[in-house]
Amino acid sequence: MDPGKVETDLLILFSYEGESIPTFSQIQMNNLLKEMSQKEDYTGKTAQVLSITTKGLIASYKLIVVGLGKKEEIDLYNYQKEVAHAVTLAQSIKAVKIAFLLDDEISKKFKISESIETTVEAVILSSYRFMKYKGDEEKKQIRTLEEVFICLSAGKIGNFEEAVKYGQLKAQATCYARDLVNEPAAVTTPAFLAERALAISKESEGSVKVKVIEEKEIRKLGMNAYLGVAQGSEEPPKFIVLSYKPKNAGKKVVIVGKGITFDTGGLSLKPSEAMETMKSDMAGAAVVLSVFKYLPELKIKYEVVGIIPACENMPSGRALHPGDVIKALNGKTIEVLNTDAEGRLTLADAFSYSISFEKPDFIIDVATLTGACMVALGQDVAGVWGNNQDFIEKIQKSAELSGEKIWLMPLEKEYKELIKSHIADLKNISGGRYGGAITAALFLSEFVGTTPWVHLDIAGPAYQENKTELVPKGGSGFGVRMLLEFLQ
Ligand code: BES
Ligand code: ZN
Ligand code: ZN
Repeated sequence: MDPGKVETDLLILFSYEGESIPTFSQIQMNNLLKEMSQKEDYTGKTAQVLSITTKGLIASYKLIVVGLGKKEEIDLYNYQKEVAHAVTLAQSIKAVKIAFLLDDEISKKFKISESIETTVEAVILSSYRFMKYKGDEEKKQIRTLEEVFICLSAGKIGNFEEAVKYGQLKAQATCYARDLVNEPAAVTTPAFLAERALAISKESEGSVKVKVIEEKEIRKLGMNAYLGVAQGSEEPPKFIVLSYKPKNAGKKVVIVGKGITFDTGGLSLKPSEAMETMKSDMAGAAVVLSVFKYLPELKIKYEVVGIIPACENMPSGRALHPGDVIKALNGKTIEVLNTDAEGRLTLADAFSYSISFEKPDFIIDVATLTGACMVALGQDVAGVWGNNQDFIEKIQKSAELSGEKIWLMPLEKEYKELIKSHIADLKNISGGRYGGAITAALFLSEFVGTTPWVHLDIAGPAYQENKTELVPKGGSGFGVRMLLEFLQ
């Protein structure tokens, strides 16, 4: 379709720095664009915007050109950010019908299916708001987009419908995780997560099966590290196992999500400010649930098992004492010196359970595991560790395609000394001030044996302290798209 003929409130074009702006069959429009870009010094630098009221020269009421910066430097993440930027501008002029022109220059840089999929994702992700607890007044003020067009050159359409569908599904899955993280901890209890898992199974009409292992059974199995964390809370723990097995399934992947529905730190109590966002300590679990909610529609060919050791970390007369020794499912003993390093205890047993009862080819865990990872990598980048180079590279490639930022960290063997206990096999903190994200990963590695394993510490990106183009303040759904991409 001729982009000049699309009737919308806003037509969005992109251009690279120092390169020409896409042209129209309406010559006058081209002239106007040229004139204005010279006058306003528009060169296509990142986030630069040229804005025009079209006055009938083309069918759209308004047009903006958004700069993508240098063509060599653009990646899918930065492209998504500029799509989100355009959506924000559209919302500020109350546009409900918008169109994107993805001209040949864009598709020279990315595969056409990638640019369609990622555009759709960015539109949905940047329009997300968590409004459940807001009053009607504020809800009414939000003008939602009604129609979004994507214009492509003739013959360059590729598998348009499939790309749109994948983009929609992955963004919706991400928003599902955001909702779960944004809900207060009084709502998202372990029992609530278990109910959600059962609802996902029901919706899937048999393709996702769910088993919830209750406290008594957890004790019988011997998952005492996990139970130790749960024992201070009034909320009973729920060990949630989701399974998806397509016909002629390929390899078997277990995805473990940290599911601490609230992390007070336990008796090693957190200061109040550090506790403010700790409803987000189940962000890994939210990723697992979201992946399972959308797996069947994405027709994933692997056998996938999701494991969520859900519980709450509370101080009480029954809570673990610092110094207590617990015996994990695989027989290793752990001296718990700090009850705030609880995630690794729950994951340890989830790994042993996976290996004994699921026999996976791969294990991935997603966890808001350490503040130290945020110190190392900041709020936008997740740390990745692993014991298998090939597997790590596949995850890195998936993150590149999903536009999520991860950085490879070392499983530094020499630091293993730091988590040896003088009275038990392991202790749950290193005691020193440095390398806390690495010692946490090393602790986990004690429970995966030789199974190829990747650990994602999402403490930073799981929860946005300040709004960005793609994520409002709150849960980000980080990891969902990466894992769906990986499984695809
Ligand atoms: N859930 C926290 C990690 C965290 C911190 C996530 C900030 C998101 C934002 C984890 O259970 C924790 O408390 N870790 C401790 C470990 C320490 C006691 C060794 C930490 O990072 O301070
Ligand atoms: Zn903690
Ligand atoms: Zn925690």
